Parts: sequence; C-alpha cells; structure tokens
Amino acid sequence: MAVITLDNPPLNGLNHELRAGLVAGIDRASADAGVKAVIIIGAGRAFSSGADIREFNTPKSTAEPTLRSVIRVVEANAKPVIAAIGGICMGGGLELALGCHFRVASPGAKIALPEVKLGLLPGAGGTQRLPRAIGVEPALNMIVSGAPVSSEQFKGTRLIDEIIEGSLANELLQGALAFARKVVAERRPLARLRDVNIDFPNADAFFQFARNTVGPLAKNFPAPLKCIDAVAAAVSRPFDEGLKFERELFTQLVQTPESRALRHAFFAERAAAKIPDVPDNTPPRKIANVAVIGAGTMGGGIAMNFLSAGIPVTILEMKQEALDKGVATIRKNYEGSIKRGKLTPEKLEQNIALLKPTLSYDDIKTADLVIEAVFEDMSVKQAVFEKLDAVAKPGAILATNTSTLDVNRIAAFTRRPQDVVGMHFFSPANVMKLLEVVRGEKTAKDVLVAVMQVAKKINKTAVVSGVCDGFIGNRMIEQYLRQAMFLLDEGASPQQVDRALERFGMAMGPFRMSDLAGNDVGWYIRKRRYVETPNVVYSKIADRLCELGRFGQKTGLGWYRYEAGKRDAIPDPAVDELIGRYRKAIGTVPRKIADAEIVERCILALVNEGARILEEGIAQRASDIDMVYLTGYGFPLYRGGPMLYADMLGLYNVVRSMARLAENAHADPAFWQPAPLLAKLAAEGKTFNG
Ligand SMILES: NC(=O)c1ccc[n+]([C@@H]2O[C@H](COP(=O)([O-])OP(=O)(O)OC[C@H]3O[C@@H](n4cnc5c(N)ncnc54)[C@H](O)[C@@H]3O)[C@@H](O)[C@H]2O)c1
Repeated sequence: MAVITLDNPPLNGLNHELRAGLVAGIDRASADAGVKAVIIIGAGRAFSSGADIREFNTPKSTAEPTLRSVIRVVEANAKPVIAAIGGICMGGGLELALGCHFRVASPGAKIALPEVKLGLLPGAGGTQRLPRAIGVEPALNMIVSGAPVSSEQFKGTRLIDEIIEGSLANELLQGALAFARKVVAERRPLARLRDVNIDFPNADAFFQFARNTVGPLAKNFPAPLKCIDAVAAAVSRPFDEGLKFERELFTQLVQTPESRALRHAFFAERAAAKIPDVPDNTPPRKIANVAVIGAGTMGGGIAMNFLSAGIPVTILEMKQEALDKGVATIRKNYEGSIKRGKLTPEKLEQNIALLKPTLSYDDIKTADLVIEAVFEDMSVKQAVFEKLDAVAKPGAILATNTSTLDVNRIAAFTRRPQDVVGMHFFSPANVMKLLEVVRGEKTAKDVLVAVMQVAKKINKTAVVSGVCDGFIGNRMIEQYLRQAMFLLDEGASPQQVDRALERFGMAMGPFRMSDLAGNDVGWYIRKRRYVETPNVVYSKIADRLCELGRFGQKTGLGWYRYEAGKRDAIPDPAVDELIGRYRKAIGTVPRKIADAEIVERCILALVNEGARILEEGIAQRASDIDMVYLTGYGFPLYRGGPMLYADMLGLYNVVRSMARLAENAHADPAFWQPAPLLAKLAAEGKTFNG
C-alpha cells in the first residue's frame, strides 16, 4: 500500500507544492510494481479544506498541475486510489476525494462544498461528481447552501464506502489500509464517479422549482442560480461536457463583482484581526471576568455578549432603580430570544446566574476587564475613570464605550493610560457584529491583543481604529449625512433619498437610520461642530426638525412618523412642509434629482472621508474600513464595502466624478476636494485595496 499524506498546515490547503507532490506520489505508486493500492490521507485535523487561501489571486493558484489536472491523474490511475477522510473535507478537498475510486471516513468528518459563500461554484468537478455520489437533490442542497454535512449522514451512498469507527488519526489510517486490502483481495472494479449514470426523471420541473425557490433568496448574488445550472448539466449532459460547462460557469462567476466582494470580505475579516506592529505571539492579558459600568442601553447589551459567552459580568450602577431596570432589560431581551427559538430557558438561567448587579465599586476590584458605558459626558467619564484608577486591580484593562469623546483624554484621567482602550460597541450591542477597538496613544500591545481575542470570543468583528472624532464609522457617516441633507435642500424628499440608497443595497436609508438612532444625537454633534469648525457648511434642515422635538422613533416623530409599537416609517406631510419652508428661507428652487445622483453623492462622501481616515492612519488598511461598513452600517455585502466599491468604479473615475460634483455643487464645492491619498492613487492608477 502506498500512503500519500497531505501535509500543509493548518488545514492542508491544496497549494501548488501539495498538488505537484500529489501527482509525483501517484506516479511513483503506479510505477512501483509492489504497490497494489494508494491511500490519500490528511495530516492533522483535516483531509483538506480545499484551495489554499494564501495562494488566492496569485499565479501559483492556476499553475499546473491545477486541481483539475490532479484529479484527472488520480481518477485515471489504474490502481485503486482511496481517500481516507478525517476532520475537514471541503471545497477542492472534497472534489479531490470525489476523484478517488473509493472513500472511507471517520465519523463526524465535515463534508462541504462551500464555494457559493465566496460567490463561486465548485470548479473542479464537484457539481458533476457529487450528484453522482449522493443523488441530485442532496447534492444540489449542499452546493447551493455551502453548508457542511457530517460524514455518517452519507452511509449507504457512493460518497462514503465505509465509516471507520474511532477518532484517532491512526485508527483512520489503519481502517483505510484494511479497506484497501479488501479492495485488492476482492479485485473490486475501480468505481469512478464519472461513469455513474444519473437517472433523474422530471429533471426540468425539479430544476425549475429549485430556481423559483433559490432565485428570490439569492437576491443580488448570482452564484446560487449558477450552481443550479451546473447541477442541471450533470443530469442533462455527458460527464465531460458537464465538466466543461461547470468550468465556463466558474470562470463567469470569478469575474462578477459580487464574488469579488465576497472574497474581499472573507480576507478583510481575517486581516482585521491583525495589527501590523503587534506580533501575533504577544501574550495577551487574561480576561476571565468583566465589569460593566452603567446598565443603560449600551451597558446592558454589552454585558449580554459576555454572559452569552459564559464570562461572568459584574454590572454597576449609581442607583438601585437604574440597576434593577438594566437587569430586567437584559432578562427581557433573553426572553425575546427564547420566543424566537434562539435560546433555551436553561441557557437563560445560566447566563443570568453569571450576572452580578452591584452599586459598589468594591465588587469590581477583581475584574480583568472593565467597560465603561455611562453618560456621554466628559466630566462623568472623568469621575468614573478616576474611581476605576483607584479601585481596579493592577493590570486590569479599562475600556470606554464612548462614541465621540477623546480616548486619550479619558486615559489621562488615570495613572495607567497604557491600560486604557476604547471598545466602541454598536447599538443594539448584543446584536451588532461590529466592535471598533480604539487604540489610544499609550494603549499597551498586550491590552490590544487581549481585547481583539475577547472580541472573537463574544462573536464580534473587531476593527482597530485610531483616536479621532467619530472613529472610523461615525466619522464617515457624518459626511454621508451631510450630503443626504444637502439633497433635501436641493429638491429630494427623505423617502426618495432612502429609497435610492436602499435600492443600492444599504440596509436602511439615511433618514430611516437617523430616526432609529435618534436625531438628537446628530444635533448635539452638529452644535459642537458649529463652534469648533465654523467654516464647514451644513444644511440646517435637520436642526429645524429637531427644534420641533422630532427625534425619531423614540418620540414617534422624526423624518417620518411612527405608530405606537410599530417600526414602519410613514411619510409625513408635515416634514414636506418643513422642508418646503426651509428651501424658501435659503432661497433654493427645488429641482428633480435622479436616484443615481443620490447614490453617487452619498457613497462618494463615504469614500472620500474613508481615504482621509486611511491616510491619517486612523484605519490600518482599506479593508478594515470596508469591514466597519459591512458589519456596522448595513453596507451591501455584494458590493464589498465603500472602499472596494470605489476600487471597482476605478479611482480615476471617482476623482473625475468628484470634479463634476464640485462644479455643480449647490452648497459646498470644497466638499468634493478629493482626499490627497485618493488623488494620488487615482493618478498612479492604483486602488485602495492594493
Ligand atoms: N446609544 C448608542 O447607540 C451608543 C452606541 C455606541 C456607544 N454609545 C456610548 O455608550 C455610552 C452609554 O450610552 P447609552 O446609550 O447606553 O446611555 P444610557 O443613558 O442608556 O445609559 C447610561 C447609563 O449609565 C448610568 N450612569 C451614569 N453615570 C454613571 C456613573 N457615574 N456610574 C455608574 N453608572 C452611571 C446611567 O444611570 C445609565 O443607566 C455613551 O458613552 C455613549 O456615547 C452609545
């Protein structure tokens, strides 16, 4: 028996070296008369996870032998080739296994074709061989969903010839060897999946039904429907033609902006976890228990994240009443999850048991991490941080959830600024994925590493931001909202602006979003801006709205009106009148504004501020900005974030559009001065994302 071991940690990604090694191994085994059968097995905890992501988009990924060539060699081999599948067997790894003549697996091995999640389809025969192995409908489900299925579910199908009991790698190998000996002794004919005939009556009706079901769910993503086309070809075409067709579809999908966006997001998420000047092996500070100061909207949600992850939380308030209210809200939110079937009553009790409400700072002396979420007022923050400095144990991490205040100033209220960091959660904090980790001037590296790691534990996407007003996300949204307001001045209605941006793909248009967040928040910030930066031009339209107390959903009236207990934004003629009066007062004649102009102005406003943030080093990389927008601001995933969107438009074109917008600007031509970095990259023909 020849044993070929795939060994490319961590998950045996099929990089060029591994592919070439596989072919060499097969050649050696077939030349050796003493070898009767070949076993392919993975080292470590995977058979293979598929393509090696480190090789993505490099010439090596398409260099021969490609995975398709490897599979051809394996499948054509005259001696039996057996895949011994343990752990993870996904994507190209599964396609390789499908090219083998036999397959054995450990129980619980995770089998999947997840390409659809990157906007692709399996491009090395997966769509043609899997239906032949497990049947058309189960194969279609796996390919369209990308979801993993446990190996023992395939008992009795051609996919798995034998489940090898036991969980040790050696047991799998021994079982595979025994299986191979059996194959040789019984002179079993080589079972090539390509030779299996698919008998599937009523295929047309079946695939039509599948398209009708998947189409509306897939919405803006083309890959799921192409997956259906590919599987349909497995039924309707001879094997080799099906393979060719699969390849054509794959090539088409690789070039779609949607796939590019999904692949970008996949890499962006991994990149965001890395901090260039902080080595991966920096030992983090331990975080085994947490204290939250303030049990309001944010404090309660923040606490829930840790409780759900099994981390004990002490929550501190000034008054018993506020404390009781905060704890009751936490329980109520968990009960909501039970109603939606997302939580069991037992887990609720477990979570609540980890929560310790208190009015005394004595109870937080042992906390490893303290997160402050009190009123957004520097003097209140000062009082809290001075107190924390006095009571927290040495080395405790002191975090602030401030949205707008200077983290360096907050750090300076303590004698241990190196222990202070921003942890900017988004509302509702128990739901939103994004966490901006605000790195102060003096924040220690092991603090950053600890916070990034704990973020992962509580299932957040953490992005590092430097200190500036608004950090990454809110600093950009301010410019987006400024444009949205100018559009009202010039002739658009809140509904039109919202609709245009929602059609573009934003989860919520700017006016619905402002009503949700509270219009008073922006008003408060603008009032500060009028004093601090008097030269920056703002439309005053939102101020007029706020002067009427129309703060949004919480007051039932904002840019829309809301009926009690409902979230529907209902257009309100009173707002149209207000806008009409405002236009008269500033002397503008409303014009008809195209949806395309709305999208262009609002999104390019994000892009330009994003470029400044990047240039100033507030964001570590362009893809971090995209992550902030994808996970915290409802930017459409299929567009990959504002910076990738700009890259796809072409920065040269972006700069030209800005010049045109400046020429036609109604209120503030200077707004469209391209950020120096944007101008530079455009001139050099480069992109934000490299
Ligand atoms: N609401 C949001 O959308 C949002 C989003 C991100 C960040 N933030 C930030 O989070 C912080 C809290 O905001 P919020 O919306 O939860 O406010 P909130 O008013 O709902 O809650 C603040 C809580 O802190 C308590 N508190 C005030 N002073 C205290 C003190 N000295 N000691 C202990 N408790 C004290 C109050 O009793 C109140 O329960 C602010 O810094 C805010 O900027 C808010």
